[in-house]
Amino acid sequence: MPHEDRIKELLGRMTTREKLGQLQQLSWAWDTGPGASAGTAQAETAAREGLLGSVLNVFGAASGNALQRIAVEESRLGIPLVFGLDVIHGYWTTFPIPLAQAAAFDPAVAEADGATSAREARSNGVHWTFSPMIDVTREPRWGRIAESFGEDPYLTARYAAAKICGYEGHDLGSPDRIAACAKHFAAYGGAEGGRDYNTVDVSEQRLRNTYLPPFQAAADAGVATFMASFNTVSGVPAHGNAHLLTGILKQQWDFGGVVVSDWAGVHELLVHGYAADAADAGRLALTSGVDMEMVSTSLAEHGEELLSAGHITQQRLDDAVARVLRLKFRLGLFDRPYVDEGAAVAAPTASARSAAREAAARCMVLLKNDAAALPLDLKASTIAVIGPFADSGDLLGAWVLPDAQRRFPSGTVVEALQAAAPQARIRHARGVEAEGDARDGIAEAVAAARAADAVVVVVGEPPALSGEAATRSGLGLPGAQEELIAAVAATGKPFTVVLVAGRPLTIGGWLDSAAAVVMAWHPGIEAGRAIADVLTGAVNPGGKLPVTFPRSAGQVPVYYNRENTGRPYDPAQPDVKYVSKYVDLADGPQFPFGHGLSYTTFATGEPQLSRDRIAASALRAGATVDVTVAVRNTGSRAGDEVVQLYVHDLVASIVQPVRRLRGFHRITLARGESTVVRFTLAAADLGFWTNDPTGEFVVEPGAVDVYAGTSSSAEGRSRLMIT
Ligand code: NOJ
Repeated sequence: MPHEDRIKELLGRMTTREKLGQLQQLSWAWDTGPGASAGTAQAETAAREGLLGSVLNVFGAASGNALQRIAVEESRLGIPLVFGLDVIHGYWTTFPIPLAQAAAFDPAVAEADGATSAREARSNGVHWTFSPMIDVTREPRWGRIAESFGEDPYLTARYAAAKICGYEGHDLGSPDRIAACAKHFAAYGGAEGGRDYNTVDVSEQRLRNTYLPPFQAAADAGVATFMASFNTVSGVPAHGNAHLLTGILKQQWDFGGVVVSDWAGVHELLVHGYAADAADAGRLALTSGVDMEMVSTSLAEHGEELLSAGHITQQRLDDAVARVLRLKFRLGLFDRPYVDEGAAVAAPTASARSAAREAAARCMVLLKNDAAALPLDLKASTIAVIGPFADSGDLLGAWVLPDAQRRFPSGTVVEALQAAAPQARIRHARGVEAEGDARDGIAEAVAAARAADAVVVVVGEPPALSGEAATRSGLGLPGAQEELIAAVAATGKPFTVVLVAGRPLTIGGWLDSAAAVVMAWHPGIEAGRAIADVLTGAVNPGGKLPVTFPRSAGQVPVYYNRENTGRPYDPAQPDVKYVSKYVDLADGPQFPFGHGLSYTTFATGEPQLSRDRIAASALRAGATVDVTVAVRNTGSRAGDEVVQLYVHDLVASIVQPVRRLRGFHRITLARGESTVVRFTLAAADLGFWTNDPTGEFVVEPGAVDVYAGTSSSAEGRSRLMIT
């Protein structure tokens, strides 16, 4: 029987309580051993009674099968459970954090992570991941920037589609695929002050032009589920936001999948001061478009009374249940509810590790490299490797399985450099800890630097300082790490800094003193080897910043795709007072979006347009403009360049960003090699959303500057007239 018929047939047999049960997701215990927590018992009882749709945080194939057996064999209708877990950047094989992945400017990296994660997770009984997180954010203080793909809607949209494709493939029923979840819908990355869960007040045009494009791309890519976000959106919590969840997502985008709440997000409608009581919270969530309630139990407890009082409709209830059942059918759970415990992937395979290593090195960004300080001279007889992260196995990143951290920590830089330069003497000194005030180790670090032929300092931010609920008010290196750098600098020895972090940091205080700086992010399980690959030149770095590096936390938000003010700062006239600037800080970012160097150099030509005029009506009818850019490797070794295409609509009915990324290509060129990179601009690239709440996308006549180059500061420009 086709799925839709089976869904109808099941709906016909289900009681209201059983229907409400399908909309309930509970959390399993983190501790599944003896002494299993109340969460486990609650899930088992609900499963047995047929009053449970889904469970999150079930660990291990055997635990999953045992719980599934209760639902399938002991409940009245035998409807299988769907198991969800946050598999964000790896299950056993931890890939670099998503923000790092975005720096590769190569969505295939996210697809590889998604496919590896899906294979490992599904074999362990996980059917559904709460990923990708595709919240565009301009807030480096926000810890969850680590989980994001950065500040740009276009880049994030491309990554969203790739990661979903990696997780889901073509058939959710296959034993190596899982359902994905586009989260957090929507505008969560706009949290005021970067404080997690905080207010977001956003105009319709900004919502649609900045925050929604990745979500629309996710819907277009066929993502199975969406998750509502914790924040309010212009005064209305996302969990009770019918405009977002129903108007835009389910009606305009025709999304047929499941909308899951975030953890107790339905209950939080009360805390926000939006729902009067738990029943009201359940009513608001369901009628606004939430289909499944994570952890809180408003609908399960109050759904029947809401239905009999006419506060929710039978039609909407059945629609939500049908969406949940459809997901289970698509996952093949009715036919194959259990996994083969003997086939569960128990450790990273060699090929998964090598994919993670390649990905991590591909994500690294060479921020600075004076006088070709890097790659390291491997003939150096002594290399000092200094800093609290030099021998750290804690470089997996913000969101890993607790067991993965314990069993499969990241490899260290010290170990990997020693393996890459076996004849060299690696002298390691921590100097200082990642956090805290102790400075006693600095003298030893200085001595190591003095005695070495090459000096590498590995500093940054531990993963515990990024991710959920890890907002920082300052963006400098924590603890006494900046003092460590200053002490190393005072030796007069040239040194390289490797930065590990889940966010952009403010590095202006010591940047000039370092000969070279590599942004390595939190690189995952293969951290050590991937960093060594880049330091030694085995991999020529080609990543680019997916997020602006501010000069100071007080400058945040600072992002490339800003609007012009009526009084922009003009670098040619730095002393003019009444312009948009800080009186105590140099203008502009430390490093712009899209910045990143290589061990070779490239020359890029002006963008060439296939036509310099086009009618708006032709664009709307599907016509396009081709843009070609010549690129040449002008240096002495092979390397990667990311050619980036930006547009600026000069005069529009809504002030347009000074630049908007509309295309990128990461290419590899041999020494002396040239190529021509081709982009296509269509209506979707040249138009924008207005403030019309029903959704209006316009392509207006006028001049558009098209920029191409190797960062968001690219100067190569051509002009397109839209008539
Ligand atoms: C809360 C987080 O906001 C969300 O991203 C995550 O998926 C859920 N918790 C489940 O762990």
